[in-house]
Amino acid sequence: MSHHETILILDFGSQYTQLIARRIRELNVYSEIHPFNFSLERIKELNPVGIILSGGPMSVYDEDSPQISNEIFSLNIPVLGICYGLQLICKNFEGTVEPAKNREYGKAYLEVISNNSLFKNVNDKSIVWMSHGDYITNLPNNFDVIAKTENSPICAIANEEKNIFGVQFHPEVVHSTEGKRILSNFVFEICTCSGSWTPHNFVEQSIIEIKERVGDKKVLCALSGGVDSSVAAILVDKAIGDQLICIHVDSGLMRKNESADIVKMFDENYHLKVIHVDASELFLERLKGISDPELKRKIIGNTFIDVFEQEAKKFDDPQFLVQGTLYPDVIESVSVKGASVTIKTHHNVGGLPEKMNLKLIEPFRELFKDEVRAIGKELGLPESFIERHPFPGPGLAVRLLGDITKDELEILREADDIFISEIKSAGIYNEIWQAFAVLLPVKTVGVMGDSRTYENVIALRAVTSTDGMTADWYRFNPEFLEQVSNKIIRNVRGVNRVVYDISSKPPSTIEWE
Ligand code: XMP
Repeated sequence: MSHHETILILDFGSQYTQLIARRIRELNVYSEIHPFNFSLERIKELNPVGIILSGGPMSVYDEDSPQISNEIFSLNIPVLGICYGLQLICKNFEGTVEPAKNREYGKAYLEVISNNSLFKNVNDKSIVWMSHGDYITNLPNNFDVIAKTENSPICAIANEEKNIFGVQFHPEVVHSTEGKRILSNFVFEICTCSGSWTPHNFVEQSIIEIKERVGDKKVLCALSGGVDSSVAAILVDKAIGDQLICIHVDSGLMRKNESADIVKMFDENYHLKVIHVDASELFLERLKGISDPELKRKIIGNTFIDVFEQEAKKFDDPQFLVQGTLYPDVIESVSVKGASVTIKTHHNVGGLPEKMNLKLIEPFRELFKDEVRAIGKELGLPESFIERHPFPGPGLAVRLLGDITKDELEILREADDIFISEIKSAGIYNEIWQAFAVLLPVKTVGVMGDSRTYENVIALRAVTSTDGMTADWYRFNPEFLEQVSNKIIRNVRGVNRVVYDISSKPPSTIEWE
């Protein structure tokens, strides 16, 4: 996608880098993340209106710490260094950075000590968030100190003439009370952005570009019913209408009424014909006796491809496939030391485009999840749909532990439906990142009336999170849990016990498999 106004964020490995990008975009200015060693040529090609140097875990004098070329500061592009970024600026202009004797971790009190454009209309005193063990002890050449904290007398610096600024704290985290204002000053006062990156403009621009790319060819879309693929389908439909073929593969692993509801919603609200393929028998057959989570994922992914391909064959010569890929999947991460291990395979249908020789249309490759939701809103999707919790590709298969049977799926579906309905009627659905029921592969003893029962256990899981990478369990009222437990045990045959999962991620994961 073409952007006329981009803020480049160079990543030095901070856990907050993506947050910087989101904060800039919340100001309606497009921002892009690249690794710290993004070349000078590519920077010139990208032609950003401003550059932000992110934080990072290392010390600028460490032997293999990430560095930048001095030339970045001669491009006549405003620069803002955050934390490690500030320390790099300092090093490059011959200041001194040292390990702090009294480390300020977390909350600190910032005092603005001189007038400057970065702190325009910023309160003289505010709370900021710090997260580094080093700080500046000698001011670099041609810079002024513009703010201090108790233990960091040089906490923010400016060279107004060259438009180079640096802050030791993290303006991108919400705990920095004036953070938004500071980033806004950088973007609007210093980089003089116009703020035209809005959902509305994104939709208009995307439609033009999709039209141009597709021409009169046919485009396939695998519509799972999730937010990303749904919004993508509606956007592409706006661009090319009938040339779009949407296929919903019903694996039989969906939640109660889910498949029917999705097809109906698209038909009624968008006149977007969705081909509903009921492949539940095939999926169940192939999953018979399988209890290993990764094997389940593999079988489901492969079966999906088989079914989808079979259906798509009925159309002559489709050339494109719509995919709801998001920006976090695309960002090249600055490598964390050590080998990475696969915890779970999340790429549900990897291999489909290659197998069918399709080119990808990924309208959201540059967007974060909350931005896709904003696009969905712009396109008129109902709020209740846009705010839906994420649902894993393999569906209930990874929530029914052990091997899968039709009867057990039915139990899980009913219990899950009760849990989610209760959450919705309590008005707390949007406070929760994801909530669901899990059917455990054990039986426990209970007593109902005068008789002994020996039946299934349902575990309830509900977490808060901002990106699914870390999560905390949701604190329900005990009364709420009591009510859900009673309802499930009373109404779902075959369940005599309900437990609530109180583990955070890490060390647990969100899904149980
Ligand atoms: P975990 O369980 O890894 O989940 O903490 C993080 C997020 O990813 C979802 N998830 C999946 N999504 N295919 C998907 O599309 C998968 O195989 C898969 N496994 C987990 C999970 O629901 C949560 O939102």
